[in-house]
Amino acid sequence: MNAVEKKLLLDIKDLKVHFNIASKSLLPWAKPAVLKAVDGVNIKLYEGETLGVVGESGCGKSTFARAVIGLVQATEGEVVWLGQDLTKLGGNDLREKRKEIQMIFQDPLASLNPRMTVGDIIAEPLKTFYPELSKDEVKAQVQAMMTRVGLLPNVINRYPHEFSGGQCQRIGIARALILKPKLVICDEPVSALDVSIQAQVVNLLKELQQEMGLSLIFIAHDLSVVKHISDRVLVMYLGNAVELAEGKSLFSDPQHPYTRALMSAVPIPDPIKERNKKIQMLEGELPSPMNPPSGCVFRTRCPQATETCAQKRPTLLGSDAHAVSCLQVHL
Ligand SMILES: Nc1ncnc2c1ncn2[C@@H]1O[C@H](COP(=O)(O)OP(=O)(O)OP(=O)(O)O)[C@@H](O)[C@H]1O
Ligand code: SF4
Ligand SMILES: [Mg+2]
Repeated sequence: MNAVEKKLLLDIKDLKVHFNIASKSLLPWAKPAVLKAVDGVNIKLYEGETLGVVGESGCGKSTFARAVIGLVQATEGEVVWLGQDLTKLGGNDLREKRKEIQMIFQDPLASLNPRMTVGDIIAEPLKTFYPELSKDEVKAQVQAMMTRVGLLPNVINRYPHEFSGGQCQRIGIARALILKPKLVICDEPVSALDVSIQAQVVNLLKELQQEMGLSLIFIAHDLSVVKHISDRVLVMYLGNAVELAEGKSLFSDPQHPYTRALMSAVPIPDPIKERNKKIQMLEGELPSPMNPPSGCVFRTRCPQATETCAQKRPTLLGSDAHAVSCLQVHL
């Protein structure tokens, strides 16, 4: 997809989410520590596009997603949705916009209310936003959506614990799509599922995306999952966006040393190439987001780090098609 020709849906500008962590010190003047979960992410998302988001555990993927949808408050920056900054909206205005952006969560069973039937779970957003709909209209829409996501409509009165993980995720997808949103944020929607089920759920999301003209933000640990579904991929490290690229360029020509290390760990289907490939191991521990390194946040693990990397913080430079945050890469 040529992102430049597409309509701009979401324009995220210098988004920061910092959490104040209470000090363990008993001294009354001890200040709370600041945890920089997301620390200045800039990205644009276009209509119909799938943006994959990858990075190690704790790098801020979920916090980024939750800030976009308004489930956590942005500390700084803007989340501009179709020309309107969501971080400045409150009450009913924000609620109205939330119709257009929905979320699917990692743990399908835990994200569904165990005391509600499948029908009520899927119907809940519809009843909230369209209270004027009759019971029969709601039921008809819920059953149509259940069929669309591969659930039999006659299980409408069953409870979540009666379903497998894959089926629970289909319920979560049906609930997210019942309002016909424009954007769905999928926070590791398949990582809790068996490998055989993962592909089914990813394929279902792809089909629904085509059919409904959806945009997706698809968060995953696993680069190979992101590769199959994404038009562009955002690589995050310690709350920062380190590389953003169209799937093809990212996988064939990763520029950031962190992306290269992630890529080298992805298995190659060709057994000879796989045997001969050099895996770039990441040295050292992931630093704490409460005390990130000065300059480039990746410098403590970067094989190419120089003295300048400790002093100067790189920014994501390049185009929508490929941008990198590294002082030594100039696209
Ligand atoms: N409400 C909160 N209060 C304080 N710290 C938080 C809060 N939510 C997240 N964090 C911290 O922010 C950082 C980023 O967390 P986040 O859950 O966004 O990472 P992630 O990339 O989604 O990780 P994972 O891959 O394990 O899901 C972590 O250090 C986490 O402990
Ligand atoms: S700026 Fe320096 S430390 Fe950071 S990724 Fe580039 S070379 Fe490595
Ligand atoms: Mg997460």
